[in-house]
Order: sequence, then structure tokens, then C-alpha cells
Amino acid sequence: MEKVALVLGATGQIGRAAVRALVADGWHVRAAARGLRAGAPWPPAWNVELVHLDREDHAALATALGDGCDVLVDTVAYGGRHARQLLALADRIGSAVVISSAAVYVDDAGRGLGEEGVRFPVPIPETQPTVAPSDGGPGAGYASEKAALERELLAAGAVLPTTLLRAGAVHGPHSVHPREWHFVKRALDGRPVRILAYGGRSRFHPVSTANLAELIRLAANEPGARVLNAADPEPPTVAEIGAAVHAVLDHDAEEVLIEGPSPAPPVGETPWSVPEPVVLDMSVAQRQLGYRPVVGYLDSLPETVRWLVDAARGRDWRIVFPALVHNYRTDYFDYLAEDAWLRRHR
Ligand SMILES: NC(=O)c1ccc[n+]([C@@H]2O[C@H](COP(=O)([O-])OP(=O)(O)OC[C@H]3O[C@@H](n4cnc5c(N)ncnc54)[C@H](OP(=O)(O)O)[C@@H]3O)[C@@H](O)[C@H]2O)c1
Repeated sequence: MEKVALVLGATGQIGRAAVRALVADGWHVRAAARGLRAGAPWPPAWNVELVHLDREDHAALATALGDGCDVLVDTVAYGGRHARQLLALADRIGSAVVISSAAVYVDDAGRGLGEEGVRFPVPIPETQPTVAPSDGGPGAGYASEKAALERELLAAGAVLPTTLLRAGAVHGPHSVHPREWHFVKRALDGRPVRILAYGGRSRFHPVSTANLAELIRLAANEPGARVLNAADPEPPTVAEIGAAVHAVLDHDAEEVLIEGPSPAPPVGETPWSVPEPVVLDMSVAQRQLGYRPVVGYLDSLPETVRWLVDAARGRDWRIVFPALVHNYRTDYFDYLAEDAWLRRHR
């Protein structure tokens, strides 16, 4: 009998790649989203069923499950409440694959991503400590909510075997949070420089949606209660990313490197800028699931860059990529500040 997958968040960047990988692997896919994103992107031959629902609506999710599914892929789960929502429906879900984040990790001194002095082992194994879970309310944040989600699903592994994927910096077409826009926009604006803090050596492990989808596919076929890192084979430095994006767009820019942090934020800062590397260990996924990346970061770039240029053409990028504005609250494109710093610096 045909295996059935319900993909929650199916029209997002991860969902689209997951649907593609599952269909190619012979799964029948029910694709769920609220319907705010652009229409059904699948060819009729794929026989994907599109269901419009808000995952906060428990009854609607239960209806979409119908008689049940072999795997539920959840790309938009946060907090213990979503863990409990899935567990309440576990009798109709064979297993789950849920997207978590590398943001849950803390270093050996308990410092999380973005905190002063944080220094992770290189690479970070899944056994690295994580932030304290928090389920909404004061003090709750993205990482602590993901930690709560993980904690509750892993504890209930006998009821609903769940693979939690701790994703690095996700990239690919159809992103509303495309870090690569940092360099794409500079090329489109004809900026003559790439100014990079930390000597351009920052490494913040990316993961292509194609590699995430491969992990989802493998986990769907081999259910288990586990947590796995999700990252590309080679984490490039931010200098390599900038040069590669500009090479795709045939844009010449001088690289100006700043040792240490930005002397005049946001000059030299990028969405990948970290003082110490954040590199994920992929050996457990290789051992447990036989994971082999389907694409490397640099090879995947041209498709993403082309998509970004098309998506933003003639439109306000802040509306097309709202998460870039919402998540960073930094004006990375403050060219006046850059030029002023360059004049002083030179
Ligand atoms: N971006 C990163 O670098 C990064 C890093 C680590 C982990 N992650 C994780 O990646 C996940 C985000 O995936 P993504 O990048 O694919 O997101 P995305 O591109 O924003 O897509 C989100 C998808 O979920 C749907 N959706 C949103 N809210 C929904 C709801 N309440 N009910 C049903 N569907 C809903 C959206 O469609 P509608 O709006 O039409 O509903 C869309 O299909 C999150 O779990 C995030 O924590 C991201």
C-alpha cells in the first residue's frame, strides 16, 4: 500500500523540498498550510493533496489526518504545546519528523548562540547541552521553545517515534528568510565593497533545503525517537559565501576585512557573522540513517540566487523577505554608515 505523509508547512521553503523528496520516493503526500503563501506549486502528476488549515486549529489538523498517516512532517512546530498537540493525535500518526534548530545548543559554560563569549566545540555533537526548555510566558524565546518541543517529543518516543532535526542556517529557493540576500542585494545595488567583520572567517553552518529534505525522507523511512543535526557537508566562511554569491551575479567587489567585531555596527556585520564557529557534526545522521548530502553549499547557490533576484524584482524586498527584517532588526544595508567608515578607515 502507498505510504502516506502529511507535511505541515508544505508551501514553505523546507516543506516544498520535503514534498518533492517524498513524492520522488513514492510517498503519497497531503500538503498542509494556511494558504497565505503562493498557490499550490506541485505538478498535477505528483498527485499532492493540498489542505488549507491553521495548525493551531486542533480539529482541522485532526480532520486532515483522516484515518491517519505513516509520517507527519512538521516544519512549523514551536514549544511544548505543539508537541502535546501531535501526541494527542499519536494514534493516527505512524511517526513524525519535526524541524528544530541548532539555536538550542549552549556551550560548556551555558552560553547560547549570540551571547557574549559563546564558544562551541567544533563540530557540535547532538550530545552538546541545550538551553533550558520554556513553554511560553516570560523568558521564553525561540531556542527555549524549540528545546521544550524537543524535550516533550523525545520523552514520548514510545508513543510517537519522532526524529527532531536541528537545522543550521536554512537556505534555498522560496525562503522568506534568505541570508544570501545580504550579498545579492549588494550586487544588484552595485556596491563596490564587501566589508566583513571577524576577518571574514565566520562560519555559521548552513543547510540546504535539499539536504534537509533528504534527512526528512530518510527519517520518514526509518522511524525512531532521536535528535539529529541537519547541515550541509562543508560550512563555508562568510568570505567564501560573499565571493560565491557575487561570482554567480558576475559582480566585482573589493573584500575589506575587519579583524574582530564591527567597530561601527552594522558595518561588516552579516547574518552569518559570529565570533566563533558554529559547525554541526553530521556523523550521527550518517551512521543512523546512512545520510549523504545531496548538494554542497556552493553548488546549491546559483539556483537560490536566481530565485532571489526573480522574487524581489520590482518589489519591496522587505515585504518579500519579511523574516530578514523581523529576525535581525539590523539595517544591514546602511550604505551611508559603510561609506563613512570607509572614508575614516582609509
Ligand atoms: N530559517 C532558518 O535558518 C532556520 C534555522 C533553523 C530552523 N528553522 C526552522 O525552520 C522552520 C521554518 O521552515 P521554513 O523555513 O520552511 O518556513 P517558511 O518558508 O516560512 O514556511 C512556513 C510554512 O508553514 C506554513 N505555516 C505557517 N504557519 C502555519 C500554521 N499556523 N498552520 C499551518 N501552516 C502554517 C506556511 O504557509 P502559510 O503561511 O500559507 O500557512 C508555509 O507553508 C521553523 O520550524 C524554524 O524554526 C529555520
